Amino acid sequence: MDAEKIMTLEKEHIMQTYSRQSIVLERGNGCYVFDKGGKKYIDLVGGLATCILGHGNRQFAEAVKKQIEKITNPTNLYYTEEQVKLAEKLAGLSGLDKCFFSNSGAESIEAAIKLARKHTKKTGIIATKEGFHGRTFGSLSATGKEKIKSPFMPLLPGFEHVEYGNPDAINNTITKDTAAIIVEPIQGEAGIVMPCKDYLKHVREACNMHGALMILDEIQTGCGRTGKFFAYEHDKIKPDIVTLAKGLANGIPIGATIAKDEIAKSFGKGDHGSTFGGNPVACCAANFTVDYILKKRLVKNAAIQGKYFMKKLASVKSGPKEIRGKGLMIGMEMEKDAGKIQKGCMDKRLLVNLTAEKVIRFLPPLTISRKIIDDSLGILREVAENEN
Ligand SMILES: Cc1ncc(COP(=O)(O)O)c(C=O)c1O
Repeated sequence: MDAEKIMTLEKEHIMQTYSRQSIVLERGNGCYVFDKGGKKYIDLVGGLATCILGHGNRQFAEAVKKQIEKITNPTNLYYTEEQVKLAEKLAGLSGLDKCFFSNSGAESIEAAIKLARKHTKKTGIIATKEGFHGRTFGSLSATGKEKIKSPFMPLLPGFEHVEYGNPDAINNTITKDTAAIIVEPIQGEAGIVMPCKDYLKHVREACNMHGALMILDEIQTGCGRTGKFFAYEHDKIKPDIVTLAKGLANGIPIGATIAKDEIAKSFGKGDHGSTFGGNPVACCAANFTVDYILKKRLVKNAAIQGKYFMKKLASVKSGPKEIRGKGLMIGMEMEKDAGKIQKGCMDKRLLVNLTAEKVIRFLPPLTISRKIIDDSLGILREVAENEN
């Protein structure tokens, strides 16, 4: 099927919920992707932080293929080895104890909210303005973007949204009826918004003081992206519940909700479930991904290349108002709507993501090299300078 036909069929038969760039992507190799016509692009979108090992990793494909040939989804009526191996691994890495597996970020948040309410027997949840946690009813209730919530009211009761990065806003809102505070270590969809120094420590302390749980949404920041496996390691705190998804299985759908044992115990038989959650294909993909991240020291690479990338971005003279981020989660805020820059980059074979209208967001595979960063910067500089 040619590209035109694919785009026409999409308009006819796919619900129009996405603003797509007008290229059809067919395959990828490392930090490059190729369209239907064979054009090669540098990919700094990285499947929105999912393709953490880069595209077309042969060993990854082999491992997943082997699992598919063995068995795909015997379901949670039975035990499977890949699921327990992954749970043990994530418990070890997080310093927490028990996992619940689902199929997406939003679902991992749903599990966290249910668990927090069941464990604390309280209903109040404090979340943050402009925060993003997903689009299902529970996760949308935690999300702090009015525009995407208002058409779907009423959402779950009990949610309050406070200014992100402001410890006073939490102190003024938290009460003995608060079940949990849910925050992102860095707000991703809001435009790579960094909190003040020690913000997570303040959240931790507020939770401790009021008997509330700290739920950390590491769906975008997790799996090494910020230069630590979990972003909370930068702050030397430990949440009660942490959620992962996106990069965990290198693009294969998975969600994980990880909790301390005494909290996890509050979920009994039948309290939560998922037909596909924790299936051996997704878990095998995640086991391979996590092992590869550790073996190839990709967390360190994210820290090193991220630092280099941010330094280089600062040399883009035309346009950027601010450059923010940690590791390979970087935002370049422009003075005005950056849609033209995104399109200009695509025309020059560089894919970047745009969020919060003015922020060019970079979430490349953690395997990215200095050369690819340099090549990307060459294009960005040229496009940004032409636009201003
Ligand atoms: C921080 C954060 N939480 C939750 C989600 C929702 O994840 P999903 O789209 O897999 O449901 C996202 C997705 O962008 C996210 O960035």
